[in-house]
Amino acid sequence: MPNSLLIKGKGISRQIKSSVIQSPLAGVTDKIFRKFIRRWAPESLLFTEMINATSLNLGYGVEKINQISKEEGPVGIQLFDNRPYSVADAAKESESSGAYLIDINMGCPAKKIAKKGGGSALLKDPSLAVELVKRISNAVKIPVSVKTRIGWSEKDKDKNIKEFLLRLQDAGANMFTIHGRTREQGFNGKADWNVIRELKEQLEIPVIANGDIYNINDAIECLKITKADGIMIGRGVLGAPWIIGEIDSALKGLENFKKPSTEEKLHLIMEHIDELIFEKGEHGLLLARKHMAWTCKDFDGAQNLRKNLIKAKSSKEAKDEILLMISKLKNKS
Ligand SMILES: Cc1cc2nc3c(=O)[nH]c(=O)nc-3n(C[C@H](O)[C@H](O)[C@H](O)COP(=O)(O)O)c2cc1C
Repeated sequence: MPNSLLIKGKGISRQIKSSVIQSPLAGVTDKIFRKFIRRWAPESLLFTEMINATSLNLGYGVEKINQISKEEGPVGIQLFDNRPYSVADAAKESESSGAYLIDINMGCPAKKIAKKGGGSALLKDPSLAVELVKRISNAVKIPVSVKTRIGWSEKDKDKNIKEFLLRLQDAGANMFTIHGRTREQGFNGKADWNVIRELKEQLEIPVIANGDIYNINDAIECLKITKADGIMIGRGVLGAPWIIGEIDSALKGLENFKKPSTEEKLHLIMEHIDELIFEKGEHGLLLARKHMAWTCKDFDGAQNLRKNLIKAKSSKEAKDEILLMISKLKNKS
């Protein structure tokens, strides 16, 4: 099983001591969540949420790229846009901020992004996708990767996507992440790991397999089928920031990984609330809700606690509920 990853860039190459990567997740993988993931996965490549290149050029979202300079370990910046000049400028700015690599989003199915020609819409416009990759790889020294899907629709799966990826590889892409679903599928059906293997066999640059990896067994199975150079985990990290480190340790054959106990998970939720309140004021509680709901599972009383947390009107109320649960757990043991 691969447990490291070499990404050869045009100017600078990157050697990562882990083959498990955290997916860019809009609305989730902000600096606070990345800090939690990093706690368990010191060596893995993490990603920012996708960042709009034109907005960045106009001065919006600059903090999202600046903040990575203060972070430990490799952090890649994911950009999306369909304007080659904007993306090249944003890539340069990201490189100056300490991006480990630049990823271009060519897979996002969200209408508001695809409508403007970014994300998965680029699957329909290979010439523009090629131009984007060329411009970015001319603008920066660090590696440039592309995250995409196995095609627009079922009929593209084998033929068009292969040609698409070969053209991007020729244009200067240094790594691909392939989500084993078509654009038309969205998140429906199962990720097709066999197609990822067929594509991997045709390509020279590293291929990262993505889609439906939630645990160690999935990771091993996916790597066996795809023969990929690494794996990327998206929804599996929701409410479980330790999963990247847990899978990475297992692939490295390490036996000392310590998964958080229920009590530690509850402390993590409180820490998350505190961090979000510190950054965003009481509005942080609204942002914390989805994280609280995702983490609050798989223990006695989780469902009830989840309900109470969602209803909580202040961060104090939410934290009091958690403290009550912690003391109940302590009394039980
Ligand atoms: C909440 C959410 C946000 C996402 N945001 C992004 C994003 O910003 N950029 C991106 O390339 N993909 C994004 N994705 C797709 C994931 O990165 C990943 O490709 C997809 O979820 C499949 O992997 P999984 O089965 O491990 O979740 C997002 C998915 C979810 C569920």
